[in-house]
This record gives sequence, structure tokens and C-alpha cells, in this order.
Amino acid sequence: MADRHGWSEVDSYLAETLLGPDPALEAALAANSAAGLPSIDVSAPQGKLIHLLARMVGARKALEIGALGGYSTIWLARALPDDGKLITLEVNTRHAEIARSNVARAGLESKVEIRTGAALASLPKIEAEGAGPFDFVFIDADKANNAAYLEWALRLSRPGTAIVVDNVVRDGEVANAASRDPDVIGVRRMFELIAREPRLSATAIQTVGAKGWDGFALAVVK
Ligand code: SAH
Ligand code: DHB
Ligand code: MG
Repeated sequence: MADRHGWSEVDSYLAETLLGPDPALEAALAANSAAGLPSIDVSAPQGKLIHLLARMVGARKALEIGALGGYSTIWLARALPDDGKLITLEVNTRHAEIARSNVARAGLESKVEIRTGAALASLPKIEAEGAGPFDFVFIDADKANNAAYLEWALRLSRPGTAIVVDNVVRDGEVANAASRDPDVIGVRRMFELIAREPRLSATAIQTVGAKGWDGFALAVVK
């Protein structure tokens, strides 16, 4: 599944050519692997993409749903100014612990807050605290809840907020209306929600690479 037609080789070439060596990110992946975490982090070129998108919107406050070992967290936190803030939500305490250590090794502790617990439990607290509005939201957790996460992203946004959702193509299964996969159903429900949401302007782009055939949804709050 992961690779056809040399997609991984191209990702490696692009990462070597455009991204260069990155000890903190490489150490994070090594720590994740040593701890037995699944290798489902964004790829290096994808990490750089979300980093650049956050910079393009001048993000100071960002929200991530689904930290895993903090690989995408590091890419995002680096896009923020010194006084910027990234809140990332992670249900798995072991993942969160490893993410904390990876983020600290990358020197980003002061910008990143990792909240343990189900995202749908953390999000109302974030709203009650008045932590938003966020300038950039990256949704990358349990796909079955994607529609709910998108609604929360909207609640915690302002006009101009950019919202990016990972894994919206899933080997093409997103176009299968008969799919019974809860992840695919979750992604499709999210797209239906976006389609009837007048406050969002959105698209989705298919990707190939080390992560196989998948894609990102991109939306901006009007
Ligand atoms: N963004 C990461 C990858 C995240 S993988 C990266 O690219 O580096 C998805 C993560 O979402 C996993 O760590 C999983 O534990 C977490 N997750 C699953 N369900 C969740 C929930 N209900 N609330 C918060 N996190 C959840
Ligand atoms: C899975 C989750 C992800 O966030 C991802 O990028 C790839 C795979 C998964 O749960 O299988
Ligand atoms: Mg993902």
C-alpha cells in the first residue's frame, strides 16, 4: 500500500534536496520507533507543507488534534513566532509523553502545550478558557470524529483561520459511498459538512509519497 512507482524515493529526494538534515526531527522519529509508535506521522515534505501553510497565514496561535510522537507538532511549532503558542491534543498518554520529550529535544517546550485526553473532552475546555481563536488548525486524529473536529475548529476560529485535515483520501476509498470503514465514513461526513458550511471555502488535494495515496483538505474561514 505505502508505495508504488517510486513515490518514497521521490519523497527522499525532495527531503534531501529541499529540506536537508534535521537532527531534531530525525531524533523524534527514532524515539517514536524505539517506543513502538506506529509510523503514521506526516512525511517530511508534508510536515514542511503544514509548516509553510502556517507561516503563510502568519499563524501565532495553532491547534493540533492528534499529536502522536509530536513530529507534525515540531513542524508546526517552528512556524510560530517566539511568543506563539501551539496546543496539541492527544488521547494516548504514552504518545503524549514521547511527544513531550521530542518537543523538548527540539527546543520548542515553551511554545507547545500537549493536552492528554480525548480531543472532544479537551476542546470544550479550550473554548471555556478563551484560548482561541486559533489562526491555524491541523486535524489528524481519529478520522471517525473528523466532522466533529471540523465543527470545533470553526467554533475556535476567526475569519482568515486556515484549517488543514490529513488523510482525507485513504487510497481512494473516500470516493466509495458504500464504504463501511468508520474512518472513510468520518471523512465523507466531514466533506458533507464543509460543502454545506457557508463560513468555509475549501478544497482537497490528493497526494502520493512515502505515505501512499492520500490527501489533505484545506479550508479558510470567511
Ligand atoms: N499528527 C501526527 C500523527 C497523528 S496520528 C504526526 O503527523 O506526527 C493520530 C493520533 O491521534 C494518535 O497518536 C492517536 O493516539 C490520536 N488520537 C486518536 N483518537 C484521539 C482522540 N479521540 N483524541 C485525541 N487524540 C486521538
Ligand atoms: C493513519 C493515521 C494517520 O494520521 C495517518 O497519517 C496515516 C494512517 C491510520 O490510523 O492508519
Ligand atoms: Mg495523519
